[in-house]
Amino acid sequence: MSCPLVILLFVGLLHQTARAVYMDKLADNKICGDAECSHVLSMATALDDFIAPDCRFINIKKGQMVYVYSKLVPEEGAGVFWSGSVYSERYVDQMGIIGYFPATMVNETQKFAEDTVKTPTANMDFYCD
Ligand SMILES: *[C@@H]1O[C@H](CO)[C@@H](O)[C@H](O)[C@H]1NC(C)=O
Repeated sequence: MSCPLVILLFVGLLHQTARAVYMDKLADNKICGDAECSHVLSMATALDDFIAPDCRFINIKKGQMVYVYSKLVPEEGAGVFWSGSVYSERYVDQMGIIGYFPATMVNETQKFAEDTVKTPTANMDFYCD
């Protein structure tokens, strides 16, 4: 009797796990305010619109405030990327979503972290759906 339900649950689980994937790392090292990257490094203002090219990134609109959580140490020949989340009362749906964006997109206005920690990036840092 419970078989169809179990199958349904299983298919649902498969569907969910199949959606999230490990994407290529944007860099091998990152700079954070603490070992867990849980402290906000700085506050920045978006200088332009940014459209996320894939799930690793976040969309940012010009003028929005961005909390910066980590700064990837740029790889040779690659761009400089930071991770953060948008703070906005108008776009509440985007609040709390952390993703990457080019550092050139924003102007850092307020720095919070005095000391920084350099740590290797983990695959989990680039896991998204
Ligand atoms: C960045 O912010 C500072 C301080 O608010 C301001 O003086 C400067 O003009 C800004 N730079 C850009 C490129 O907008």
